[in-house]
Amino acid sequence: MKKILVTGGAGFLGSFLCDQLLSQGHEVIALDNYFSGSKKNIQHLLNNPNFEAIRHDITQPIHIEVDEIYNFACPASPVHYQHNPVHTVKTCVMGAINVLELARNVKAKVIQASTSEVYGDPLVHPQVEEYFGNVNTIGPRSCYDEGKRVAETLFADYHRQYGVDIRIVRIFNTYGPRMSINDGRVVSNFIVQALQNQNITMYGEGLQTRSFCYVDDLVDGIVNFMNYQGDHFGPINLGNPSEFKIIELAQKVIKLTNSKSKIIYQNLPINDPLQRKPNIDKARSLIKFAPKIDLESGLIRTIEYFKKLI
Ligand SMILES: NC(=O)c1ccc[n+]([C@@H]2O[C@H](COP(=O)([O-])OP(=O)(O)OC[C@H]3O[C@@H](n4cnc5c(N)ncnc54)[C@H](O)[C@@H]3O)[C@@H](O)[C@H]2O)c1
Repeated sequence: MKKILVTGGAGFLGSFLCDQLLSQGHEVIALDNYFSGSKKNIQHLLNNPNFEAIRHDITQPIHIEVDEIYNFACPASPVHYQHNPVHTVKTCVMGAINVLELARNVKAKVIQASTSEVYGDPLVHPQVEEYFGNVNTIGPRSCYDEGKRVAETLFADYHRQYGVDIRIVRIFNTYGPRMSINDGRVVSNFIVQALQNQNITMYGEGLQTRSFCYVDDLVDGIVNFMNYQGDHFGPINLGNPSEFKIIELAQKVIKLTNSKSKIIYQNLPINDPLQRKPNIDKARSLIKFAPKIDLESGLIRTIEYFKKLI
């Protein structure tokens, strides 16, 4: 039984990680400042004697005796991370320094939730880990994209300079229950709009592509990579390589919700990537990563969750 810290533990992904780690018999501490996460996501865990929740902002140092750290604290939706961009940079960069210092002090293994956004608007498709990316340093998305890039640099340097045992995963669009209703990411946006028979907002013509991974597949991959014993510390891509146009996603959501929603078209946001699809060969060969849940099955489960909320 290990003692494990999950930063961002009350968020969408963090709370599922807490569930999985507890189900494996570990002791879990969820750290969160509740900026974009919710106590509701961990409500069902509060009576579990192996679970503890701490309100803390990861931009401040922290000392806790733990064996492993999953660093997931950071708003992930553009609406949230652009709300206070300076704080987003601090969360990425100072948050990374604080968890790495903690890992160094208590000799914990630490995994960083990085993102496909480090590839920016990619000129290589599908994206392989060796691709260095195409990121604007000063745009509205840069606080997140560049913040996450520096965090990767810090992880690699703490490993080289101090021997900290690190892992880096680059997560591609992941969706599922517990996304916040006002999250602003495309899957939850479309579902919430469709369930309320509101217009579905399509940015551009909807021809831009994304690959959507269901949360259960992703969490398995993350935990497996933390437990992976080989030399490769990453970065590895994790996501579902099936690629869809955003317009196809909207049509699927409308069909599955039996919605009367109409699609309305708006301008593409600045620096919105035109295509995204992970190459997951590394994850396949290192940890046998193989997403099982297709888009339709994942959408059905996610729609059920939002139906109860609305
Ligand atoms: N979901 C995805 O598709 C996706 C894709 C790529 C990367 N990621 C990464 O995974 C992690 C979790 O994303 P998510 O989708 O669960 O988003 P989320 O917003 O639901 O979760 C993030 C959590 O971090 C907390 N948080 C934010 N700033 C904090 C701070 N300064 N101190 C402490 N807690 C803080 C939030 O309150 C929230 O609970 C993030 O690091 C994100 O960058 C997610």
